[in-house]
Amino acid sequence: MNFKDKVALVTGASVGIGRATALELAEYGASLVLLDIDFEKLQSVKEELKSYTENVLIYACDISDEARVGETVADAVSHFGKIDILVNNAALWRDRSYFVDTPASEWKKYFDVNVFGTVYVTKAVLPHMIAQKYGRIINVASVAGVYGNAKMAHYSATKGAVISMTQALAKEVVGDGILVNAVSPGSVSPSNQEDVNYSQPTELSHMGRTGTDRENAELICFLASDRAGYITGQNIQIDGCRKKL
Ligand SMILES: NC(=O)c1ccc[n+]([C@@H]2O[C@H](COP(=O)([O-])OP(=O)(O)OC[C@H]3O[C@@H](n4cnc5c(N)ncnc54)[C@H](O)[C@@H]3O)[C@@H](O)[C@H]2O)c1
Repeated sequence: MNFKDKVALVTGASVGIGRATALELAEYGASLVLLDIDFEKLQSVKEELKSYTENVLIYACDISDEARVGETVADAVSHFGKIDILVNNAALWRDRSYFVDTPASEWKKYFDVNVFGTVYVTKAVLPHMIAQKYGRIINVASVAGVYGNAKMAHYSATKGAVISMTQALAKEVVGDGILVNAVSPGSVSPSNQEDVNYSQPTELSHMGRTGTDRENAELICFLASDRAGYITGQNIQIDGCRKKL
């Protein structure tokens, strides 16, 4: 894979899949625009990236704040002149509660970040991709959006929305040279401290283990690359053959 001359924007890039994707994209030559609400952690990711590239812009940006997203993308485009690759990765997912115990305010919070955040960043970036007739958008969804996770109805619903938005948008922009896909991880073990294999045993996949953030990053980078030129409108599960609970 070769991302030299490509500019990639990754949301939620300070930890987990977002950080691993930033590292992988940089390893193959990309310049990076990284967004997160945790600016301190973004600074340490920027340090880690130094062995690959110094072409990294980091922004404290809450993706559920449309105005802030707009000014962030405008600033990045004025610096790099373009954005070729967008990885919509930032999301809320860690809270679990039964449907009857989950207040509407919690549903709203999840939709504001996971759905509207994805919409705001995509709306800000897409016109630049259309103008240059090239773009790759990868939305990080979840198996929860395909099968539904008990005690995570609100989260599952947001990821279902991300998957169907992906399928619809892909059809609209295919004529503009823009490919839009989703990846749906199963259970993922982070390797935030070092790039060692943190995979754990799990009953949730037939493979019997979790995936790693690095494995997810590799799929995202493949979809972002010109090797995946005939793939669009897809939701690709990366889950070790998930058991459909
Ligand atoms: N980890 C898993 O097991 C798993 C499984 C399926 C899907 N996913 C999806 O993968 C993606 C990444 O998850 P992860 O577990 O690697 O990371 P994570 O949940 O640990 O971190 C997400 C990142 O997004 C940032 N973020 C949260 N809200 C934000 C906002 N409003 N604006 C900007 N940034 C914000 C956080 O600060 C954090 O850096 C998410 O979309 C998640 O739903 C993860």
